[in-house]
Amino acid sequence: MEALQKATKVGFASTFSFFLKAQNFHWNVIGPDFLEYHELFGNIYEEVYSSIDGFAERIRSLGTYVPASLSRFNMLSQIEDQNEILPKEQMVAQLLEDNEKLITILKLIYDVAEQNGEHGFSNFLAERMDAHRKHGWMLRSSIEGIQNAS
Ligand SMILES: [Fe+2]
Repeated sequence: MEALQKATKVGFASTFSFFLKAQNFHWNVIGPDFLEYHELFGNIYEEVYSSIDGFAERIRSLGTYVPASLSRFNMLSQIEDQNEILPKEQMVAQLLEDNEKLITILKLIYDVAEQNGEHGFSNFLAERMDAHRKHGWMLRSSIEGIQNAS
């Protein structure tokens, strides 16, 4: 159970960082097709944010406390902050890469949850992986043409 608690905190902090980066890109993206990208990042951050409270309350249900400060998130998160303003294609490519990383992290927690017989929690994680698969599709489809053209 302790391994599950630890892994879950990393997954939660990484999810929060991912949400923040998607919102960062939603705010800071520029270019002639601004609205398209603003909306793409907007849809992603809103969906991920909608999972945060439920994720945190499941951590409490596992019998431990929720990491809930910027310094704790920084300590635990596997998703690196972005402090530069990137060109929009690089924003998409980076968020896509982070998204894949997050799916891998969630899958690891899923396996530990299953080993601990926490099937309700692994069910939640499976749904999160599914949601991130969809985000991956949206992000990939937004740069595929650009990558093929270059
Ligand atoms: Fe907004």
